[in-house]
Amino acid sequence: MTRRDVIIGMAASAAPLSVGTAMAQARSPAAIELPPARSQGGKPLLEALRLRRSTRDYAARPLSPQVLSDLLWAAFGINRPASGDRTAPYWRHVMVIDVYAAMADGVWLYEPKAHALLPYMNADIRADTGLQDFVGKAPLDLVYVAHGERMTDVSAEDRRLYASVDTGFIGQNVYLFCASEGLGTVFRGAVDYPKLARILRLGEGQFVTFAQTVGYPAT
Ligand SMILES: Cc1cc2nc3c(=O)[nH]c(=O)nc-3n(C[C@H](O)[C@H](O)[C@H](O)COP(=O)(O)O)c2cc1C
Repeated sequence: MTRRDVIIGMAASAAPLSVGTAMAQARSPAAIELPPARSQGGKPLLEALRLRRSTRDYAARPLSPQVLSDLLWAAFGINRPASGDRTAPYWRHVMVIDVYAAMADGVWLYEPKAHALLPYMNADIRADTGLQDFVGKAPLDLVYVAHGERMTDVSAEDRRLYASVDTGFIGQNVYLFCASEGLGTVFRGAVDYPKLARILRLGEGQFVTFAQTVGYPAT
């Protein structure tokens, strides 16, 4: 099964265009409903911690829809449906970070409530998500975007701080999931931030905090 096999038309209910920017409108409004994330399995936590590491050499092998689903849920999915709360803690109960998935077929916005990927940009921008060669080769680069405009009553400096901390928790979830799944990953700050913000057409107050590459290790 390919990810295309699970594409469904959800534009009417998911309202993806209001979440991103005008760029979203350039793409056909079809979202990818991810298969339900697995709720069992994986390596025991202590083993995953033992295996956690950064990887900078990736195979081109794509991620299956199930792996992508599990990964995004582990990253920042909803683990308490009644409240909508997430697998990672976040500042003052304000949803500041959005997770974007840059893949060969475009950029997608992870929407945890629907557990779906909403179309954001019809372009392969993987190579633009970082300053290292492997970022354009690995199948997935996560880009963490902070919505500073959602953080009221705090200075610009504190916005950066809290958004970065929120991102760090998500990044560690991704590290542990990857360790459990035999995937490689690396959290990245070596990003041309102004360029990536321009490419993503981020709105006022929005900024990229970090990026994170995911894929199967080359060896
Ligand atoms: C805030 C932060 C930024 C990082 N930026 C990069 C980066 O731009 N490129 C990279 O290859 N690794 C980056 N790393 C990964 C670290 O280099 C890596 O975690 C560290 O060398 C320890 O290696 P390990 O993760 O294998 O234990 C970053 C890690 C953190 C926490």
